[in-house]
Amino acid sequence: MALKNSMKIDHSETTIDWAPALSVDGIRHYFSPTHAERPFLVLDDINLSIPKGSFVSLVGPSGCGKSTLLRVFAGLIIPTIGRAMLSGEPIEGPNERKGMVFQEDAVFPWLNVQKNVEFGLQMRGMGGRERAEVAREWIELVGLKGFEKSYPRELSGGMRKRVDLARVYASNPEVLLMDEPFGALDALTKLRLQDELLRLWEQSRKTVVFVTHDLDEAVYLSDTVVVMAARPGRISSVYHIDIPRPRRFETRATEQFTALAHRLWGEIEKLEASAGGSSL
Ligand SMILES: Nc1ncnc2c1ncn2[C@@H]1O[C@H](COP(=O)(O)OP(=O)(O)OP(=O)(O)O)[C@@H](O)[C@H]1O
Ligand SMILES: [Mg+2]
Repeated sequence: MALKNSMKIDHSETTIDWAPALSVDGIRHYFSPTHAERPFLVLDDINLSIPKGSFVSLVGPSGCGKSTLLRVFAGLIIPTIGRAMLSGEPIEGPNERKGMVFQEDAVFPWLNVQKNVEFGLQMRGMGGRERAEVAREWIELVGLKGFEKSYPRELSGGMRKRVDLARVYASNPEVLLMDEPFGALDALTKLRLQDELLRLWEQSRKTVVFVTHDLDEAVYLSDTVVVMAARPGRISSVYHIDIPRPRRFETRATEQFTALAHRLWGEIEKLEASAGGSSL
């Protein structure tokens, strides 16, 4: 299973399109923090090929470079060596082909739900009537029908996250890049939103790269879980999650699920111990 900084995700048993949506081939990235004397290697020789339509999670100890790798895919960071690719083209910067969802909500407090979801579409020049229609559809799909006129301050954290999901889905990106999107939610809301996200994903089959600290969440959602090790950030191993879909709450109680989560947990514990201990 351990592939030494390198992986090709094998989806031969699924119906996923083989052409990789996202890939990196031996990229390296150095950061130059203000306090450090020399640049430090944050991503070391990362090879990853993510098939179109698959759901891939990145897990690993805090500081191992998960967010950095996600930002490379988003085009927010250009690696020092090598380039990330989206559908065979080098990623040179952020654009509407990549949709980002962060832990913090990316909703505008001065816009109501409808206008928040319309915002990206407006930026892309979509006409008023069409974008209102698209936004309404997505608002309904994320379960916020009736809240179109509400402002973010009038919504719960879970509802704001739903607005965020509607916002990013409405823009119709090719890939969704999510950095601990449910990390700040209470346990129950998080479980609900995981199911919502799976439902949306099953309908649209967009490629998703999902960073999380929650190993149960990673196993529940993903086709593949990529484990990263720290200092320098590198791929430690890759788990193919062959739990049948659709996955439902009861899936979490199956032996297959608990065995996989347990194996992942064991590996991360080892990684932390070998790195001198850090929190997940
Ligand atoms: N802009 C930056 N400049 C310098 N160093 C950075 C920068 N961003 C991140 N780092 C460093 O790079 C390393 C990886 O950071 P990154 O945020 O990718 O980790 P992570 O795996 O997402 O961690 P966490 O799980 O805590 O979110 C860390 O040591 C961090 O301090
Ligand atoms: Mg992070």
